[in-house]
Amino acid sequence: QPQTPLTPLSYIPSEIACAQDYEALAHQFIEPKRLAYIEGGSGHDRTLQLNRDAFQKWGIIPRPFADMAHATTALTLGSHALEHPFLLAPVAYQKLVHPNAELATAQAAAATDTTMVSSTLSSVTMEDIAEHSGAMRWFQLYLQPDEQNTTELVIRAVKSDYQAIVVTVDAAVQSPSIRVLRAGFVMPNEITAANLESQFQKPHEGVSKSRIFSDYMVSAPTFARLEKLIRECPLPVIIKGVLSPQDAAALHDLGAAGIVVSNHGGRTLDGTPASLDLLPAIRDAVGDRFPVLLDSGIRSGSDAFKAIALGADAVLIGRLQVYALSVAGALGVAHMLKLLREEFELCMAMTGCQSVTAIRSTTLHSVMRAS
Ligand code: FNR
Repeated sequence: QPQTPLTPLSYIPSEIACAQDYEALAHQFIEPKRLAYIEGGSGHDRTLQLNRDAFQKWGIIPRPFADMAHATTALTLGSHALEHPFLLAPVAYQKLVHPNAELATAQAAAATDTTMVSSTLSSVTMEDIAEHSGAMRWFQLYLQPDEQNTTELVIRAVKSDYQAIVVTVDAAVQSPSIRVLRAGFVMPNEITAANLESQFQKPHEGVSKSRIFSDYMVSAPTFARLEKLIRECPLPVIIKGVLSPQDAAALHDLGAAGIVVSNHGGRTLDGTPASLDLLPAIRDAVGDRFPVLLDSGIRSGSDAFKAIALGADAVLIGRLQVYALSVAGALGVAHMLKLLREEFELCMAMTGCQSVTAIRSTTLHSVMRAS
């Protein structure tokens, strides 16, 4: 049934009691085809579901005897000081859900001391986002078919004072979402990748007969391309979309400033394991001091706590930011982040963890579930 979505609110609705509540409420604010694009995972949503299930396999063991008077959520990631371990993941085309789009998200990030990772495919330019955001912003880079265009994006990010480049490596090709295909979603004409408008998109001719392989060829993030980028880029380069311990170790040796363990929120290849399930082996492969972030499936402060206990330094929030944006713009995103942080602080208090680095796997208990 077609339904008319509600227009975004300028206040926080009273029925929001936790960060995840924005998910259900967003269904009233996002048009169904657009919702399919945002919610859907690739293929039949199996990885999307695995991402959520992974968090349910762990319980948190309370240890309520610590003095928490000097506890803090602050941490450092390489050379970056963060107030708390939540970052806003790069999410493309935010005009789909709110007229102020990424500008509203940037304002929310500024108000909550949150680092925003701004997408190559943002619906407003990275320069405009920089003007609206606080001091902490990173730029997510998709390698462009033409090397020169990639370089130009990096130069623009440096000029606009972005502090790190996050290269996403898992989406040179993506297996489509069956849900999106069935819903018949197509990107509306008025919503475009604002950063790329001035760039000439050359048609490419792959060497292979397979369209998938030839598509992949033009923006494949080979180690050689990444090595060159890391060497030439004046900013730290973090690699997003790593799921293999071997690749993590290789990227560490290549000079990456960190990695994001991610399956793109289940949006790239259905059947990929949950990011959380692969995290401990990746942490083992890179050692304790290398920044490892995680995303995919985080819907609460306790999810973030579990990810950190299993080896992440910090986490990225994808869909929840879009849901909150659709309901109440900048206010919604800021509120959602505040709720996440409070939920997370509660976990720290109840487990006696006075700092983020004190959160270890010994605070978790594996919950065996017959299913
Ligand atoms: C994304 N994601 C994404 N990642 C990226 O590197 N560049 C991008 O432009 C986008 N765009 C995008 C659009 C939409 C609608 C979604 C839902 C996601 C992936 C994102 O950064 C992150 O990895 C996941 O969203 C994390 O999973 P959760 O938090 O959504 O479960």
